[in-house]
Amino acid sequence: MPENIIEVTDLTKTYPGGVEAVRGVSFSVRKGEFFGFLGPNGAGKSTTMNMLVNLVKKTSGKVVIDGLDLDRSAAQIYERVGFAMQETGLDETATAREMLQLHGRLYHMSKARIDEQIAKLLKLVELEKVADRFTSTYSGGMRRRFDLALSLLHEPKVLFLDEPTQGLDPHARQLIWGHLRELNQNGMTIFLTTHFMDEAEQLCERISIMDKGQIVTSGSIPELLDKHESKTLEEVFLKTTDGSGLADESVNENASDPYTRKR
Ligand SMILES: Nc1ncnc2c1ncn2[C@@H]1O[C@H](COP(=O)(O)OP(=O)(O)O)[C@@H](O)[C@H]1O
Ligand SMILES: [Mg+2]
Repeated sequence: MPENIIEVTDLTKTYPGGVEAVRGVSFSVRKGEFFGFLGPNGAGKSTTMNMLVNLVKKTSGKVVIDGLDLDRSAAQIYERVGFAMQETGLDETATAREMLQLHGRLYHMSKARIDEQIAKLLKLVELEKVADRFTSTYSGGMRRRFDLALSLLHEPKVLFLDEPTQGLDPHARQLIWGHLRELNQNGMTIFLTTHFMDEAEQLCERISIMDKGQIVTSGSIPELLDKHESKTLEEVFLKTTDGSGLADESVNENASDPYTRKR
């Protein structure tokens, strides 16, 4: 029996102001699996992922990662996971190498191991030549690749990636997809969120489609096509979500959304 490395039960998040971003989500991810959350903007994907690593405090529900309960063992979980989230706080006055070194020290890695990992990862994400430049000078693609290197520095067991190729050109996307496949083939469990059908199709063994704070369907792509009598993943998506939009700027019409000014 394959072992579950992530187990989530009845997870909810209500933000101050009353937005019910996540409304009772349960799922599990097997060790070594490439798992994805697909859903329109505002579905609650980022909120869910952020709760799993305690960047956002959950309202209720149970999260177990690598056998550790988030309520009791958040610090140990933090050491076992790597993440590259949608809103990264890149320090504008540090170079990539400096940020990687700092990250390594935060994870109590030895200097030798930090240097070894930095050399390996800069090569992997093809940023060797610009490693000593301020990250503020990086293009979108370079930043996403840097985020990936940062998330991998301490060799996590589970990698969480929130929209890893958002805003990237096709070449940069292919490059990141290649790295992710390789990491997964070498045994890393990867959980990503995306609103791109092709990304989910290209990478994920199993997908949960999320809409309005809930999982609306889950399975491998063949299972989803079969279950929803569809020919493409896009068709499944359109049948299971309310289709209010995949556009980057889609507006969430929740009346109590504190980010929407009432007029
Ligand atoms: N910090 C926050 N405070 C209040 N509401 C938030 C916050 N972050 C996200 N939301 C709201 O929660 C809902 C889900 O957002 P999010 O998890 O970012 O979805 P997704 O990642 O699927 O686009 C949206 O209605 C969003 O406006
Ligand atoms: Mg998001």
